[in-house]
Amino acid sequence: MTEIEWDDSLSVGVDLIDEQHKMLIQRIKDLSEAVGSSRGRGQIGKTLGFMIDYTEFHFSTEEKHMTKLGYPDFDIHKQQHEEFKSTLSHMVEEFEEDGATAGLGEGVNTFLINWLVTHIKSIDSKFGKFLQEIGFKG
Ligand SMILES: [Fe+2]
Repeated sequence: MTEIEWDDSLSVGVDLIDEQHKMLIQRIKDLSEAVGSSRGRGQIGKTLGFMIDYTEFHFSTEEKHMTKLGYPDFDIHKQQHEEFKSTLSHMVEEFEEDGATAGLGEGVNTFLINWLVTHIKSIDSKFGKFLQEIGFKG
């Protein structure tokens, strides 16, 4: 299983975004824990729901600031968010049809975690740099 813990290498240099990323990591860990320990369907469904709600909230925070501040790489960044959201909704469909299968656990522990770490370290840190350059105070 891929482990994920917050550390400074994940900081994008802007508190608002860092705090939300920490929360998102917590949501993934909760989901991973629920799937891994074969909790009841209701419990897993609930953590999956929290994960989706928080992802939605976080992405729209980033996108709102990008639009407002005229961020030049908005389109490509938003496209990555959309891809992630569509993968998540496929996971939900899978879960609703087949329950917490090994495949779902694998998806949570590898895809979600790897995507998030890669996304934060590359594309979000670029956005963080932009925010710092314009003196954004979150
Ligand atoms: Fe992002």
